[in-house]
Order: sequence, then C-alpha cells, then structure tokens
Amino acid sequence: MDRKGLPKDEVMRLVSGMKELDISFGSGRIFGSMCTSPHPIAAEVDGMFLESNLGNPGLYPGTLEMEQEIISMLGSLLHLDRIYGHVLSGGTEANITALYRAKKITGRKKVIFPASAHFSVLKALSLLDMEPVMIPLDEDFRMDVQQMEDHLDDEAALVLSVAGTTELGVVDPVDRIGSITGDVPLHVDAAFGGFVLPFLETLHPGDHGIPPWDFRVKEVTSLSVDPHKMGGSTIPAGCLLFREEAPLKHISVSSPYLTSTKAYTLAGTRDSGAVAAAYAVMKHLGREGYERIVAACMDNTSYLEKRLRELGLEPVIEPVMNILAVHHPDPDLVQERMRKRGFFLSRVRDPPALRFVVMPHVTRASIDVMIPELEGALKD
Ligand SMILES: Cc1ncc(COP(=O)(O)O)c(C=O)c1O
Repeated sequence: MDRKGLPKDEVMRLVSGMKELDISFGSGRIFGSMCTSPHPIAAEVDGMFLESNLGNPGLYPGTLEMEQEIISMLGSLLHLDRIYGHVLSGGTEANITALYRAKKITGRKKVIFPASAHFSVLKALSLLDMEPVMIPLDEDFRMDVQQMEDHLDDEAALVLSVAGTTELGVVDPVDRIGSITGDVPLHVDAAFGGFVLPFLETLHPGDHGIPPWDFRVKEVTSLSVDPHKMGGSTIPAGCLLFREEAPLKHISVSSPYLTSTKAYTLAGTRDSGAVAAAYAVMKHLGREGYERIVAACMDNTSYLEKRLRELGLEPVIEPVMNILAVHHPDPDLVQERMRKRGFFLSRVRDPPALRFVVMPHVTRASIDVMIPELEGALKD
C-alpha cells in the first residue's frame, strides 16, 4: 500500500479502467453464465444495506426479518408450510453446509450423488473428509436409481440429488429416489432449477414432464436454491432450506461476544445487501413476474436451438430448462475460438458438447449477433 492516498477522482479513474476490462452481461456476449444482471430493484436495495451483517443479527432485526421472509416465500413456492433455513453465499456454501450437517447428525461419511452433481460437492467432500460414491447416469442423464439403490446402506450419511443439473439442466427422479432412501437424509441441489422449475410447472400444467422434485417429496430433508442465479438478486445469495426445526443446531457453535448466543452458518460476518436485494426482487416480481422471465428464457432457448440446428449442431437432449447443449467433438477448441472473437460459451464434458445458458440477458438480438461468429469459429 502506498504511504499517501490518492484523490477520489484519480481512484475512480483507476476503478473505471478496471471495470472496462470486465465483460458485462449487457454486452450480450455471455452465453455460459448461470448468473445474470440483477433486477434494477435488487441493485438499488443492495446498496442500502452495506452496513448490515447477519453474522451479528441482533443489531439488524430488519435485515433478519427479510431473511426469514425469503425462506418463508420459498417455502410457499416449494410446497412446505413450516420451513426453516438461511440465506448463504451461494450453492457451494449450501452444499458444504448440507454435507457437514449430514456428517454431524449421522456420524457417517458416505455421500451418494450423481455424476452430474456440481463440482462444489467434490469440494465439500474433500473439505469434510467424506467418502464419495458417484452414481453413473441413466440414458436421460439423470442419476441411475437402480445403481443408487445398490450403494445405499446404513453407512450412508446423505443422498444428494440435483434438480436442474449444471451442464444439461435435467432433473433427477427425486420422487423415486425418495421412495428408497429410508432414514438417510436426502438433499436436493436446486441451486439453478429452484427459480425455474416451479414456474415451468405453472406455465405448462399437466404436460411439463417434470417429476416432483421439491418438498412435495416427503423424504426430502434439505434443498438449496440460489436467488443470485435465476432469482434476479445480486450476488451472493443462495438459500439452504430445511424441513426440520433448528436444522443447523448440529453444526452451531457458541458466539459469546455477539448479539446472538449461537452461530449457525459457516461464514461469520455475512453479506446482507444481497439478502435485502433477494427479498426486494421476490416481493416485486411475485410468481407472475418470474413466470414471465422463465417463459421468455424458454422462448429464447427454442430460438437458439433452431439457429444452432441450422448450423448442423444437434442438441444433446431436448432442453428441460433454459440450458442448451449441442454435440461437438471438440468443444474446448470452439470455446477458445469464440473467446478470441469476444464471445463466452461453456462446454459439457460428457458427452462433449457446447453449452449455452439462456439467462434473461440472452435475447434474440444477442443470439443473432453470436450465431454468425459461431459459424465462423466452427470453420476457423
Ligand atoms: C446445480 C448447482 N449447484 C451448485 C452450484 C454452485 O453455486 P455457486 O457458484 O453459487 O456457489 C451451481 C453453480 O452453477 C450449480 O449449478
């Protein structure tokens, strides 16, 4: 650090220069992110809560009330009247916390999860020194229930399933999984799908083809869903929800010099602006607002699929959600060529495929700009 500070306008010039290096969602060039521009109300509200710290909640009863309201709004969306939970920093912290709690409650280490699970599960397993049992996928890229059952025994601490996989957006058969887990806790990672699937279900009643995946499945003990992905919130906001009361008491420690006597979450000092932002955007949009957003994303997903087919790129599956993957033998090469052209796609490992996440910032106009670039990149 320099001895003498700089005048504000000079610092702002430096910061603006750095900001220009970043790629904004508004550029229309980001096709591989599961986050998007926060809703304007979320951005505005976030800045009002810069001082709040849910790590010391006694000082911030208003912020705490918003956290509890978020959990209860999600309870009504995900079919559980009496719900418990916390707003954490995202899907990774939620998965780590869910595994930590399972280890503490059961005293066991074995975690059963599908090959499609997000890499945060591997992070959690390594951190907690738990034992991975990775289950292969069936022909629809969902956890193979038969193989899961073969590995289920009284050594298992947790079964983790995914509602909206990161790579393909598919939903594990949570109802069938729940029918065989018995006493083993069942966690659903709906970090991405949690703000998409409920609205797809109401947009297409009767023919959405999505099996029950939330608290309707009575064996589901915990579920994670991230407002900072399809929820329109600012970063960082990811919720971990529980069916049982005092869910995190098993991992709590005493916090003698704070306003509350127990600390329940992994983080001490906690971002709270994003909690207020998530509350504001959920109140503002309501179910109808989210339905409109999800309908638009699905419409754009169909449009993108049509444009990609015109280039000879075939979808790996008919998209369930606003994630579209198309077969390509060398997705890394295409991804790199597109990056050089200033466009950001993602990829799938198995089968090799190019992956597009059709977030609210992806529009028909941005697709129309990207497609000729992709056509060029395929030939480079
Ligand atoms: C299904 C799923 N779970 C967990 C995560 C991790 O979320 P975060 O990056 O917010 O920690 C992701 C991220 O994309 C995800 O798709």
